[in-house]
Amino acid sequence: MTSRLFNIGKPLPPSPPGQGVRFDQPDWAQASPKLIREMLSRALARPSGGWLVVDASRHIASRPRHYVVAGRELVAWRAAERILVAPNACPHMKAPLSEGRVSDGKLVCPWHGLRLGAEGFGSWKPYDSFDDGVLTWVRFGADEASIDRPILAPRPERFIDGVVRVEARCDPSDVIANRLDPWHGAHFHPHTFARLRVTNLSADDVLSVRVAYRVAGPVCVEVDCTFHSPEPNTIVMTIVGGDGVGSVVETHASPIEPGRTAIVEATLATSDRAGFRLAMLASSVVRPFILRTAHRLWMDDVTYAERSYAARVRTSAPGVEG
Ligand code: FES
Ligand SMILES: [Fe+2]
Repeated sequence: MTSRLFNIGKPLPPSPPGQGVRFDQPDWAQASPKLIREMLSRALARPSGGWLVVDASRHIASRPRHYVVAGRELVAWRAAERILVAPNACPHMKAPLSEGRVSDGKLVCPWHGLRLGAEGFGSWKPYDSFDDGVLTWVRFGADEASIDRPILAPRPERFIDGVVRVEARCDPSDVIANRLDPWHGAHFHPHTFARLRVTNLSADDVLSVRVAYRVAGPVCVEVDCTFHSPEPNTIVMTIVGGDGVGSVVETHASPIEPGRTAIVEATLATSDRAGFRLAMLASSVVRPFILRTAHRLWMDDVTYAERSYAARVRTSAPGVEG
């Protein structure tokens, strides 16, 4: 039995009759493993240009930072207005450059002081990287050079953003599969979602969801949103009805190494409410709230994705029945 909820957000029209999912069925029956697997394999087949998210651009400052993406050790730093992402091993004697410092935009090696920049040094040179204003991306090699920028879903014009980065013992596909299963929402995150119904599944794999976010007890804000995957390592939630239309939550999964993934989730919140301008001014206060909510949800979803990965690895182990 569902207890009564009070929506303090903008009222929503009745959901249109849905397509593509069996609405009369309970959530566990609608969450068909076959359907989720098929949506996942179509998402993984989309082009990406080889771009992978490294981190929030805000996190990369004038101090060099160390990352591992797709098995490569990287150093990222901000040189004047630009972010550079390069191999972490110094071309001289392989010192870890992330332990060096930045001086006049150059990365200075901690062992013998070699100064390195965008021009490179011998075979050492920065990788292609792209700062989209919120996130920094990197790509290795130019096998998909025709896509010269990461594929992004539409973002709101003005927003308050918060970016959370967590690591999980799973593959990127486990993270995307988690988000292609919205049916778990109210069951697995009852602290955040009071009610969640999938209302439509379009032919191009856009899932529509009506979800009531808990404010306190039975008081909630109900919104309509969609989930879609614009490229293989990203899934985007977009609010399309109710408060905050145009707000997005981008979940990016970058491989660290097999069985380890960095989840970088960017929330870009917008609103046409008058108070939002004030909130924009106070974004340093609002941002921690966004981050705390995203982090709590991700602690749950990391558990889900790690469980899926572990179950998959175990069943595919030699001598184990699948
Ligand atoms: S190892 Fe970097 S300058 Fe020698
Ligand atoms: Fe979840």
